Amino acid sequence: MSLLPLRIGNLAARIPIIQGGMGIGVSLSGLAGAVAKEGGIGIISAAQPGFQEPDFLTNTFEANYRALSSHLKKARETARNGIIGVNIMCRANHYEEYVRCAVRNCADIIFSGAGLPIDLPSLVKGTASKIAPIIGTPKAARVILKMWDRHHHCTADMVVIEGPKAGGHLGYTQDQLEALKDSGYEKQILEILDIVHEYEKKYEKKIPVIFGGGVFDKKDIEHYLSLGLSGVQMATRFVATRECDAAESFKQMYVKAREEDITLVESPVHMIGRAINNPFVKQVKNFREDVTQCFHCLRDCNPKEIPYCITAALIRAARGDVDHALVFCGSNAWRVKEITSVHNLMKELSE
Ligand SMILES: Cc1cc2nc3c(=O)[nH]c(=O)nc-3n(C[C@H](O)[C@H](O)[C@H](O)COP(=O)(O)O)c2cc1C
Repeated sequence: MSLLPLRIGNLAARIPIIQGGMGIGVSLSGLAGAVAKEGGIGIISAAQPGFQEPDFLTNTFEANYRALSSHLKKARETARNGIIGVNIMCRANHYEEYVRCAVRNCADIIFSGAGLPIDLPSLVKGTASKIAPIIGTPKAARVILKMWDRHHHCTADMVVIEGPKAGGHLGYTQDQLEALKDSGYEKQILEILDIVHEYEKKYEKKIPVIFGGGVFDKKDIEHYLSLGLSGVQMATRFVATRECDAAESFKQMYVKAREEDITLVESPVHMIGRAINNPFVKQVKNFREDVTQCFHCLRDCNPKEIPYCITAALIRAARGDVDHALVFCGSNAWRVKEITSVHNLMKELSE
């Protein structure tokens, strides 16, 4: 089966594969530009993109703003006419400023999850940037689309469903994840498709629905498309590419991981995340790290109460200090056997 292009209004990606946003420093301009150039949609993560800037410690917000602008420009140069998006977490401090930064630098699409991006439509109004909420449950889909309809008289340009097998922070509680292990997830996908259809009818426009979380090969992609989805979001496979912006030792953690090494962790902001069970993960279950510096990354984090600083732990991962870091991954990371190029991966997934 050949894959159909993914159309989002006037934008069209030749291959219906979105590379999921990965913070901190895992999907920046290197990876996003390469994926967009190959015909997919590349996403830059707006989670502390300035961590390599010389003034990051003293001037965190300005360093991030500057780096996000410059990664968008670089990705655009590589991607030529390809589609570049930005992933901005709703819980991020300075959320509005990062959205405006993305819009000013001509991001084609803003993806926003880890909470409900209620005011996102007003932040992009009158610009060419499209908006896509990332949701995990039918309830979240209903709430966000209803809010946007009622308060902003508009709807989503695309909806991304992030399922329970995804990497990074998950939008589920431990109990929900347990329940989904038995029941599977397809019922929820179909319910979300129905909800989105209501708004497609009301606004007389196609709203592509994308699924991410555990999608590994072309067979998986075909399966999800057969359910009525318009494309897939994949992240874990893209970590194992030469163009991925993380350190080589981060990528090698995936190549070496065994199935039993993939675990769930509770992050400092009380969200469940999926990561590789390394010495750091084992250590923070029992000991608190001394948090001496706050990067003001998330709105509801209190440095006095947390077992470790998530920004510091993720920066160590991106830099390659993998035994002392939080190495996020999707549930299928153990199936990764080698590092390849984005070109070869896109070919394998689409041909
Ligand atoms: C290393 C890593 C970091 C991630 N960071 C983020 C993030 O900052 N924000 C976000 O919305 N999703 C994040 N994700 C989730 C991905 O964007 C994607 O939706 C999901 O991992 C897809 O599942 P897969 O990894 O099985 O392909 C991350 C995933 C990984 C593997």
